[in-house]
Amino acid sequence: MVLAAVLHGVGQQVRVEEIELPAPGPGQVRVRIAASGVCHSDLSLLDGTLDQAFPVVLGHEGSGTVVAVGDGVTHVSAGDPVLLIWAPPCGACWFCANAEPHLCVKAMDAGRVPYAKLADGTDVLPGLGTATFAEETVVPAAGVVRLPDGADLAEAALLGCAVTTGTGAVWNTAQVPAGASVAVVGLGGVGLSAVQGARVAGASVIVAVDPDEDKRKLALSMGATDALEPAPDLAKRVRALTGGRGVDHAFECVGRAATIRASWGLTRRGGMTTVVGVGGKDDKVEFSALELFHFARTLTGCVYGSTDPVRDVPRLVEHVAAGRIDLGALVTARIGLDGIDGAFAAMREGRGARTLVVP
Ligand code: APR
Ligand code: ZN
Ligand code: ZN
Repeated sequence: MVLAAVLHGVGQQVRVEEIELPAPGPGQVRVRIAASGVCHSDLSLLDGTLDQAFPVVLGHEGSGTVVAVGDGVTHVSAGDPVLLIWAPPCGACWFCANAEPHLCVKAMDAGRVPYAKLADGTDVLPGLGTATFAEETVVPAAGVVRLPDGADLAEAALLGCAVTTGTGAVWNTAQVPAGASVAVVGLGGVGLSAVQGARVAGASVIVAVDPDEDKRKLALSMGATDALEPAPDLAKRVRALTGGRGVDHAFECVGRAATIRASWGLTRRGGMTTVVGVGGKDDKVEFSALELFHFARTLTGCVYGSTDPVRDVPRLVEHVAAGRIDLGALVTARIGLDGIDGAFAAMREGRGARTLVVP
């Protein structure tokens, strides 16, 4: 039996309870969780914005130590420090073969199959296939990437979603070139990682936008050149910072139609908006047919920062070791499994960057 934060239905509080976690089967790995970040997608699964069956153990941004491996697992062994990947590519589908592993059609399969039982014998699902809000979890082998010995294992959890997504949006999806001007709308763990990614890419202007003053200050300390509150004249103020044109690249890191529309309005003619946030299926964004022609802008979605975990995790680990990406500065609170409801409450109010759950 291990402790896990179990969610029994939409909008409920999580219940910390014992679950029966089986030994890893063939092709699976059991991991003792070192830490797990609280991501806005967990909140979206909890409040019904994203579809989720119950009961479930949420948490998809985690790191830990391998406890045991099942038959056929050779790339990690007991005792290894690892990062968990919530969308592990299968390596065999059309998208994987087409060098688009982030679009793998099988990447989310693990989350649809029960992985453990509650004390009363009820099946429980692993949220996004990872279930990191727990002392231990069992995941597919492809969902585990070896980390170097000696790295800060708890902080490395943030590489599991926010940092990979935010930096990947800048480096992989948008491929921001040195000298470009960038706006990042929404400065949670994902947006602040996009700010850091833009700085590493050599962006000349990085405008960070968030209603929360503490977040704006954090963004400035991470490389943003300007920080603005969302307001009706936001686009005008961004144009004033970019020769009257607007930015080359905008990154929407909130996940709402209104902020997608606002981000799009910050770009120059021919500019590109990358939608990193994950919104609800009924939240509609509107564009006029004429403005699409007039501005010749690009709007693109972004899944997991277009990442290839096997290629990108070692690259990120190097950036962290060299001090170019600061994980510690993203962590604004550390809590136990019993603090998760409080972390969601703070997130709803936009308070704090990343909360780390240390089970
Ligand atoms: N303009 C700009 N920022 C806003 C606005 C707005 N109108 N409204 C809210 N925000 C800010 C909040 O203040 C908060 O700082 O957006 C930020 C969102 O951060 P988090 O809730 O911490 O979310 P995060 O985990 O970073 O995820 C962001 O990416 O992966 C997706 O599902 C995730 O859609 C979510 C997005
Ligand atoms: Zn996430
Ligand atoms: Zn695949």
